[in-house]
Amino acid sequence: MPDSPSTRRHFLQQTSLASAGLLVPALAFANPQQPPSAQKPKDAENISPAEDLMREHGVLNRILLIYDEHLRLLAARQTFDGSVLVSAADIVRHFVEEYHEKLEEDFLFPRFRKAGKLVNLVDTLLAQHKAGRLLTAQIRELASLPTLKFVSDADKLADALRSFLRMYRPHEAREDTVLFPAFRSIVSPHEYDALGGDFEKKEDQLFGDQGFFKIVDQVAELEKKLRIHDLSQFTPK
Ligand SMILES: [Fe+2]
Ligand SMILES: [Fe+2]
Repeated sequence: MPDSPSTRRHFLQQTSLASAGLLVPALAFANPQQPPSAQKPKDAENISPAEDLMREHGVLNRILLIYDEHLRLLAARQTFDGSVLVSAADIVRHFVEEYHEKLEEDFLFPRFRKAGKLVNLVDTLLAQHKAGRLLTAQIRELASLPTLKFVSDADKLADALRSFLRMYRPHEAREDTVLFPAFRSIVSPHEYDALGGDFEKKEDQLFGDQGFFKIVDQVAELEKKLRIHDLSQFTPK
């Protein structure tokens, strides 16, 4: 039986209270004091550009799972702490958009254009980065509303999450299977190796030493809050 408007209003009020009362401070993105739980492999400096970018997609995929879980909560009209979604959107903004996508835009896309290869794909990927930034701003804003006239806002939030998921899954899959494999063929082996080191240095500058692992830890903490961290829960019974 569908919920009555008053039940729905109650859910929305609960959600707004959770958003208002339980907001946690923004994640520290470059806190060198925070020890990562995972250890950086010794030869991480030798990571190739493709491996670097693809493991960053792994972080994005874990955030997509967090977005999936919020869509499920919204559809079930369950209350949730909006600060988890705000923190997830902040990681998307700082780590995916301002770092990972910036690497693609500064180091990969111009080289493909110069080589005259996969130019249409690059155009689409760039347009999707721009669309993603708009969606992230919307998700963050809606997730952090302290008081919600929230019936329409909940629908808007669900729409933004759905659009983000729908775009980014094919986006990153196309980069992993087409763009990154082709990248090796348009730069010299020396340049390819050097870029891997450059990417790592930039990551450490922005997010502290062993920055990648710190971001992974931050995402894991959000998963724990949502009770989706235990990998075995996804194994079919
Ligand atoms: Fe991209
Ligand atoms: Fe990417």
